[in-house]
Amino acid sequence: MALTSTLQLTLLRHQREIQEALQQAVMKARNTAIRSGAAELQAFYDQIQYHLGWVDANFSPVTSNPGKLLRPTLLLLAYQASGAWGMTNSDAGYLHRALPAAAAVELTHNFTLIHDDIEDGDAERRHRSTLWKLWGIPQAINTGDGLFALARLTLWGVLDEGVEGTIAARLGAVLDEACLVLSEGQYLDISFEERRDISVAAYVDMISRKTAALMACAAQMGAMLGTKDEETIERLRSVGHALGVAFQVRDDLLGVWATTAELGKTPAGDVYRRKKSLPFLHALEHAKADDQRYLRGVYQQETEITSEQVEEVLAIFARSQTKAYCCTFLAEQCRLATEALEKVPRMGNPVALRAISDMQTLIHFVEEASKE
Ligand code: IPE
Ligand code: IPE
Ligand code: MG
Ligand code: MG
Repeated sequence: MALTSTLQLTLLRHQREIQEALQQAVMKARNTAIRSGAAELQAFYDQIQYHLGWVDANFSPVTSNPGKLLRPTLLLLAYQASGAWGMTNSDAGYLHRALPAAAAVELTHNFTLIHDDIEDGDAERRHRSTLWKLWGIPQAINTGDGLFALARLTLWGVLDEGVEGTIAARLGAVLDEACLVLSEGQYLDISFEERRDISVAAYVDMISRKTAALMACAAQMGAMLGTKDEETIERLRSVGHALGVAFQVRDDLLGVWATTAELGKTPAGDVYRRKKSLPFLHALEHAKADDQRYLRGVYQQETEITSEQVEEVLAIFARSQTKAYCCTFLAEQCRLATEALEKVPRMGNPVALRAISDMQTLIHFVEEASKE
């Protein structure tokens, strides 16, 4: 089967359950606020629903653009791969144990996107205007904060699904730690703008924090809900981490070379923003001396980069074979993710085995960007 249809199968497999868990979380909070008499709070929840892709900018329902739900999917796959707390194939509804955590991770991810778009000054995400573009920075910061709190509240729903208190508390700690590390990563990413001396190792450390931390957390939480076996939990966490690193390298590749249709954002957006991501780091080291000087000048100039300068930067990337380097780098990260997956102890049941194969599909999807 072609990768896209296999991928769609993987991503769609639990989409309905995840969307329902998200809807339940948001509507519960919304109804509580409105019941308490604050009707004007509708717009606060409308903004959340807009960001999640459920309504348009006029708050009319749409079914257009939710995110890919990668992190909650990964969480549910890790839950299944680790044995889903001893479920048998005939168990109906065994996913329920993990759904509050899956929703919590997706809400957390969406909070980070709202804040990230403000930090990056991005006007579009998922082919639509960003929250701050529509309703201003102060409200967008606040909506992000609200989603962050809602994510934690949603996680405690595991207690209603029979998860013991000590496991629930540990899940909370794992999620908090991921949020802290993610903020460290965002700090490093933003601070790179002022720095000249960034190594590839420093870049990998930064993306490990800003992106891989939450993916590792998702896989770990799923495994913690599925088993008490520490080795399995640690191995699945490593898969999430490796997939997260690869995923950000893919994003950085697309941030320079993808078209608007593929991206839902401005093409070459990372060059316009003068991001010091992998393509820039490579070209700065490997381009001809003149080209290196040009890159340094443009990335340091006080004024905004012009579209002619963006064209020249892209030409320098082409002359220094930067894209080929980034593709090889991505393929290597995907190889590491596959290696991590191979080390996950196998459960005998078909659902667990299918989950491992679904994770391999996710790795292939990330790797595809290195072949275009
Ligand atoms: C975007 O993540 C942020 C990065 C870590 C690159 P996704 O590409 O998973 O975002 P959605 O949720 O599917 O839009
Ligand atoms: C992704 O940051 C990581 C987080 C959102 C925490 P980026 O700024 O690289 O991602 P995109 O390209 O805006 O999705
Ligand atoms: Mg961004
Ligand atoms: Mg960013």
